[in-house]
Amino acid sequence: MGRFDHKDLLSMDQLSVEDIDLVLDTAESLKEISTRDIKKVPTLRGKGIVNFFYEPSTRTRTSFEMAAKRLSADTVSLSASGSSMVKGETFIDTARNLQAMSPDLIILRHSSSGAPHLIAREVAAGVINAGDGINEHPTQALLDLFTIREKKGTIEGLNIVIVGDIAHSRVARSNIKGMTKMGAKVTVSGPPTMIPVGVESMGVRVDYDPASAVQGQDVIMMLRIQLERHGKFLMPSLREYASFFGLSGEMMRNVREDAIVMHPGPINRGVEISSEIADSPCSVILEQVTNGVAVRMAVLYLLIGGAGRDSVD
Ligand code: CP
Repeated sequence: MGRFDHKDLLSMDQLSVEDIDLVLDTAESLKEISTRDIKKVPTLRGKGIVNFFYEPSTRTRTSFEMAAKRLSADTVSLSASGSSMVKGETFIDTARNLQAMSPDLIILRHSSSGAPHLIAREVAAGVINAGDGINEHPTQALLDLFTIREKKGTIEGLNIVIVGDIAHSRVARSNIKGMTKMGAKVTVSGPPTMIPVGVESMGVRVDYDPASAVQGQDVIMMLRIQLERHGKFLMPSLREYASFFGLSGEMMRNVREDAIVMHPGPINRGVEISSEIADSPCSVILEQVTNGVAVRMAVLYLLIGGAGRDSVD
């Protein structure tokens, strides 16, 4: 097994092609553990992990916790409302106090871009970015890459389209970095208000017409409209968005027969994706969630398990 020389996982920028291959290969070998009767190995016994979530989460928080427990790490979960930040303690002081209890890893989701980078400089523990504002969500990109490789056998040379609010999506930003690094040809599509000016500099093609953008693609990734952040200011109405940019049976009529449909979740049924497509055989949305546990097990193992020195059996 190769080396993974990182204290933190903050951005897809820091990962080389070899690093990404190592995460995906490790996840492939760890995935089987979740199918056993006893879903546990001793690999991270004695390691302490804090799950620190300032924003709501179903998939990321649960899968990190499951991943840590399946590797026998000790986990503690903390939310903003349950922490002493409600009594006026600063974010940095909170991180320093967590560090004083000697965790091996802090997994942080935060509404502010750059928050994980800030505490990574303050604490000796490793820090994993579990989604920071509109910046990045690296483990989501890794589980998406894993799912694509599992379904298509490769990532290099694939045609992939990402449709939706590219400008405010941390999932899109991490995926564009990861997919282009791994040799995929990436197109982005959505209303002009949701496509960042100059996005081509990230190595992607822009097609503002989703009906043409999805044609000929191996992978179609739909994104949620982030109504809680800014979605309502970027389009006239949800109904209009759904009729022009939502993935429906009609839009799927002209796509490749073997195309897969992905979505990081949570999905807004009837907005960016119809139930007909979300629940159809071409949808791998729940497989992404399953793979999230294996990929997060791999990331935990590679960061604090002593990659190359420890057995994963
Ligand atoms: N994809 C994702 O990050 O989902 P959660 O917000 O539920 O963690």
